[in-house]
Amino acid sequence: MKILITGTGYVGLVTGIAFANFGFDVTCYDIDKDKIQLLKNDKCPIYEKDLEKYMIKCKNNIIYTTDFKNSFKNPDVIFICVGTPENNDGSANLKFVYEICDKIIENVNNDCVVVIKSTVPIGTNDIIEKFIQDRIKNKIKIYVVSNPEFLSQGTALKNTLNASRIIIGANEKYAKDIMLKIYKPFTKNPYNVPIITMDRKSAEMVKYASNDFLALKISYINEISNFCELVGANIEDVTLGMSYDDRIGKKFLNSGIGYGGSCFPKDTKALHWLSKDYNSELKTIKACIDVNKKQKTKIFDKFNKYFKKINNRNVAILGLTFKPETDDIREAPSIDNIKLLLKNNCKITVFDPVGINNIKKIFKDKINYASSIKECIKNKEAVFIMTEWEIIKNLDINFFIKHMKFPIIFDGRNCFDLLLVKKYKVDYISMGRENIFNLNKNKEI
Ligand code: UDX
Repeated sequence: MKILITGTGYVGLVTGIAFANFGFDVTCYDIDKDKIQLLKNDKCPIYEKDLEKYMIKCKNNIIYTTDFKNSFKNPDVIFICVGTPENNDGSANLKFVYEICDKIIENVNNDCVVVIKSTVPIGTNDIIEKFIQDRIKNKIKIYVVSNPEFLSQGTALKNTLNASRIIIGANEKYAKDIMLKIYKPFTKNPYNVPIITMDRKSAEMVKYASNDFLALKISYINEISNFCELVGANIEDVTLGMSYDDRIGKKFLNSGIGYGGSCFPKDTKALHWLSKDYNSELKTIKACIDVNKKQKTKIFDKFNKYFKKINNRNVAILGLTFKPETDDIREAPSIDNIKLLLKNNCKITVFDPVGINNIKKIFKDKINYASSIKECIKNKEAVFIMTEWEIIKNLDINFFIKHMKFPIIFDGRNCFDLLLVKKYKVDYISMGRENIFNLNKNKEI
């Protein structure tokens, strides 16, 4: 069984490596020559735990190439894993998906299953199948299958090999059988991944409904967290109390400065846009988007209230990526906060274990880049925590006292235990919890 993966981003590369790991003959195609060269040299182009190790382990079953003519010729299954970025109006942009379709139309010369893993609006699989079938030159049959991806960055390989579920949306038996065949190794010990088959539109919907539900859960808890601040409750005790109800569970209830990344922001907007297209606006999704937009800069609002005059403040930011264990800064709350701080002429020094190079591409020489936490916070008037990296969570509070001009901490990710922080002479402002003013006793925000 020959598998062609198109697009070697998080989804494509991890999917390709997972299939190669099970002994399939895999070709990974990408338009990006630099990326393919890195892969050919056994170097993983993305920061993702264990991926490089697995890449090397299965290198005999996998080819990386930019040569579409040969790679598209005769695969049994083609996975479309290219990006579907958002248009200005929030709808999904399918330009890259169609570029792959054109290559399929031009080059494929045997019956084949085309699997859409990219997140696409409901109904796209039907449209794509017709688009290809109407134009294909060779007398062959193309079956389009929806197979959404649920991996999280940072745990991508684990989430693929030990997936919570594999969703297969196929309208014909032939396509469904091929999919069941290639995914069979995933269903065996020790992976035991359940496979759920359904029609294509439902499969497309599973992806949006899952991601948007998780995003909604975060916006919900952030709104409750903001309300806790007003009424004097503690969000951590509240979520702990909620979590004992297993219908609610304890995951994805961490309040903070909102969700970022390449999926939640895009997928909530895309579904909301689609619902408006059907004249049936999804109001919960709209609320989720609005709450998250405001939440991202809540920590700046607290800083603004604390100092009243923020012009020219010399501040540090610890953590830049949209979550720990990734170098991805797409839609990261750090970006929105840096923009606001710059607008107010603050002097900013940032640190992140792996995200610095990506943030440099946006802010260039407008901010300072530190290579250690100590260098970052040295003599600063305040520090922000934007990502809950372990090395930040493990810091001793005395470290802030020792190196900062004033140990004033704005923690957007609730990295420290309140009872512990209360013992130190610091001001500590976090999310959904009591503010600690041990430095400036009469402060109020
Ligand atoms: C997400 C989905 O989890 C995954 O199933 C889907 O396939 C792709 O989108 P990912 O974007 O990698 O994965 O990140 P995720 O771990 O879900 O976190 C998204 C954002 O939510 C991060 O910014 C994170 O900080 C935030 N978050 C998460 C919270 O603010 N609170 C939480 O309790 C959990």
